[in-house]
Amino acid sequence: MAARTAISAAQLDRTLGVWQRGRDSAYRSLAGSLRTLVLDGRVPVDVRLPAERELSAVLGVSRTTVAAAYEVLRTEGFLASRRGAGSWTALPAGRPMPVAGLSPFPTDSGGVIDLGVAALSAPEPWITTALTAAVAELPAYTRTHGDFPLGLQVLRQAVADRFVQRGLPTTADQIMVTNGAAGALSLLLRQLAGPGERIAVESPSYANALQAIRLCGARPVPVPLAEDGWRLDAWAGTLRAAAPSLAYVIPDFHNPTALVMPEEQRAELVSLARATGTQLIVDETMVELSLDPETPLPLPLAAFDRTGSVITVGSAGKTFWGGLRIGWIRARPELVQRIAADRASLDVCSPLVEQLAVRHLLTESLPEVLAHQRRRVTEQRDALVAAVHEALPDWTFRVPQGGLSLWVRTGEDGPGGSALATAAQRFGVWIGSGPRFGVDGVLERFVRLPYAQPPEVSWEAVRRLAAAAATEAVPAPAPDFSLL
Ligand SMILES: Cc1ncc(COP(=O)(O)O)c(C=O)c1O
Repeated sequence: MAARTAISAAQLDRTLGVWQRGRDSAYRSLAGSLRTLVLDGRVPVDVRLPAERELSAVLGVSRTTVAAAYEVLRTEGFLASRRGAGSWTALPAGRPMPVAGLSPFPTDSGGVIDLGVAALSAPEPWITTALTAAVAELPAYTRTHGDFPLGLQVLRQAVADRFVQRGLPTTADQIMVTNGAAGALSLLLRQLAGPGERIAVESPSYANALQAIRLCGARPVPVPLAEDGWRLDAWAGTLRAAAPSLAYVIPDFHNPTALVMPEEQRAELVSLARATGTQLIVDETMVELSLDPETPLPLPLAAFDRTGSVITVGSAGKTFWGGLRIGWIRARPELVQRIAADRASLDVCSPLVEQLAVRHLLTESLPEVLAHQRRRVTEQRDALVAAVHEALPDWTFRVPQGGLSLWVRTGEDGPGGSALATAAQRFGVWIGSGPRFGVDGVLERFVRLPYAQPPEVSWEAVRRLAAAAATEAVPAPAPDFSLL
């Protein structure tokens, strides 16, 4: 079994912040705050908590207070203890575990509003123009067998050039074209992750990446993402304790929180990963969706890597259109060759017309498309923000400067994310509940709301969500205080 990750008393003190609420006795207050940390994923499940004496010294409370708080959590099922081994966080038996997708798949028929997917409709006329240009270029390729596992050289070069423009020297032999970022991730996991392998991930993280990790038999090891960003001390602790072979991170308009990792943290994460021999997979799918052109984005995370071991995954799906299904991997040429060779038994290669269209978009119309996306996404984000503020005033969130979603903490008195998502379906809205983006069924207090829909659709969706929240009476989580 993997070494259990531990949280130090000082780290737990920082994560707890101000926990003494005054209304409850100190031990209840401490137990309540610790429970919330577990349910929100800010302290992952299966993490060893500090010994009672240590924590009481750091928090400035009596040891009896910490012991009573731990006892409450044990009784509720949020803590497991074994004499001599300490106490570690847990979830009560019978809690629902996260489900992978929205099931059944929502359709756009029947008036259902789909807020389950953070993806935009095609920006026109650019997509049609690019596809038309691609068809005109096709005869040069129809004379070949059409099987290009690495991708078309012209697109590999265009993708490499875009990395160079963003400040990361890159050559075409470091690029391979994939079927979206999802295809890139699958190919990488096939090549690099075996069953039982530990892969450090942010919590929350992109739901389908977590599912891809689970499906290849690997184990996602969550590192909590705080409301305002990454905690490198938590990363250092997890990388040291769990020694994961891989880590998957989304530093640019993270999905679902839309946070951006500052440049100094990028450098530090690269050096932490190097120290533990952990290979970083950096997902840049959202990187071009910045809504604030005045503030330049930090350098790509791979720019801080001098050894060539950081792997980057990118996509045309958010910049241009998901329907193109074109993505890419940037890695050392030797790894690119190995993945391309392995591909013959999976998806062989990516469709040529779409590759040519993406090359056209990257080289001929990127600035115009980005300006267009920025205008519409800003308008959509502002509408969603206004709608939630008006209809659900006790829901809280940061207003992102890019990406495609609000990561929303639902009100304390309403239903939790899963109950809300279920109720919302009855009102004709699909949303992703918090636990889909977590590892152990945590994050129940959250939902992800994409601003990928036109303003009027978002207003209607939020009106329906408010109605669903009002009718869904069961608050979650519901700890049993009768035990105290
Ligand atoms: C962070 C992240 N990675 C990967 C993907 C999948 O991208 P693609 O459509 O290119 O497969 C998405 C799509 O939402 C995403 O948000």
